Amino acid sequence: MTSWPRFTVARLKVLTVVGARPQFIKASAVSPVLRERADEVLVHTGQHYDESLSQVFFDELAIPRPDVSLAVGSGAHGAQTGAMLQALEPVMSAARPDYVLVYGDTNSTLAGALAAAKLLVPVAHVEAGLRSFNRAMPEEINRVLTDHVSSRLYCPTENAVENLAREGITAGVRLTGDVMEDAIRRVVPDPALLGQLGLRPGAYRLATVHRQENTDAPERLAGILAGLGRIPAPVVLPLHPRTRERAERFGLTALLDALLVIPPQPYRASLTLIGQADAVLTDSGGVQREAAVLGVPVYVLREETEWVELLRDARAVLVGADPVRIEEAVRARRARPRARVLDEDSPARRVVADLTA
Ligand code: UD1
Repeated sequence: MTSWPRFTVARLKVLTVVGARPQFIKASAVSPVLRERADEVLVHTGQHYDESLSQVFFDELAIPRPDVSLAVGSGAHGAQTGAMLQALEPVMSAARPDYVLVYGDTNSTLAGALAAAKLLVPVAHVEAGLRSFNRAMPEEINRVLTDHVSSRLYCPTENAVENLAREGITAGVRLTGDVMEDAIRRVVPDPALLGQLGLRPGAYRLATVHRQENTDAPERLAGILAGLGRIPAPVVLPLHPRTRERAERFGLTALLDALLVIPPQPYRASLTLIGQADAVLTDSGGVQREAAVLGVPVYVLREETEWVELLRDARAVLVGADPVRIEEAVRARRARPRARVLDEDSPARRVVADLTA
């Protein structure tokens, strides 16, 4: 009798790079699905290192412990990205993955993509194709460069697919939907939180501010904080460490007195606060989508957004950093609450199915 040799098909090996808060959330949606079908090496660059911006998300979202932690920390853009590149290269060379998977648009995204591309490892980019068309934003540079070295481009929206096509990128592009929806779907609101903060559902506004364009320009930060002080109280502001530091440096802390300032919140608390707010004011891409998905009107504290779909039916309205514009828009209720049906299928599963096909 002939005995046939037993062939085992090697599982795909994916090295995932995360580093900042929104990437932990997206990885919490994709990693468990990916691990059903592939071997994952999880690398944390250490871009975010504060307990409240990093570890709390790993614990709360049951994200697997990183296999490698690079502890790169904060720094100027070039220094931070360069340190990540230098640290990632030997890790990727040793792991020899079939793909490097990156999320979003942070410096960790760009470093992961660039390190992989230089080693000729194909890059898969989740949240590909988003554009603000504002090259003064560090995130815009990160997005454009990452997309142009990626072989698999997972787009959250049709508009993102079109943006890529305009730049000549069509190969490897897939419309998967937004993996943040997988994460949002899993969270049950915390019934005790509002009471602990002395808030009532639908009777407060939630604000977040952390973008460099807003925090590092004193007049913009002053305008936003003044605008938040002019809309009906209470206004809850979970304060990013960078924003707190800049407010102190620019002598703006008196403007915080009108607001209910709390530390950066874990994911469940954050979704609870967003979901029950009367309105959300933010410069964060993630918070814009979370509010929109939960049917809460959004005022975007920027001059443009990558999530243009939200503007079309006034689920979101651009208000910039001018206090009068902010106050007028909120009081006139220019943004409209619209419940959104979540994607029935799982965007994270679509990503993994394509990557492992
Ligand atoms: C980064 C991303 C941004 C993303 C955000 C999510 C880039 C260019 N920006 O912005 O796209 O929306 O994460 O939160 O990658 N800091 C701390 N503790 C930390 C991390 C940062 O105090 O754990 C302070 C430091 O002063 C640091 C500053 O925040 O210099 C900025 O941190 P950085 O990671 O460079 O950018 P974010 O503003 O967090």
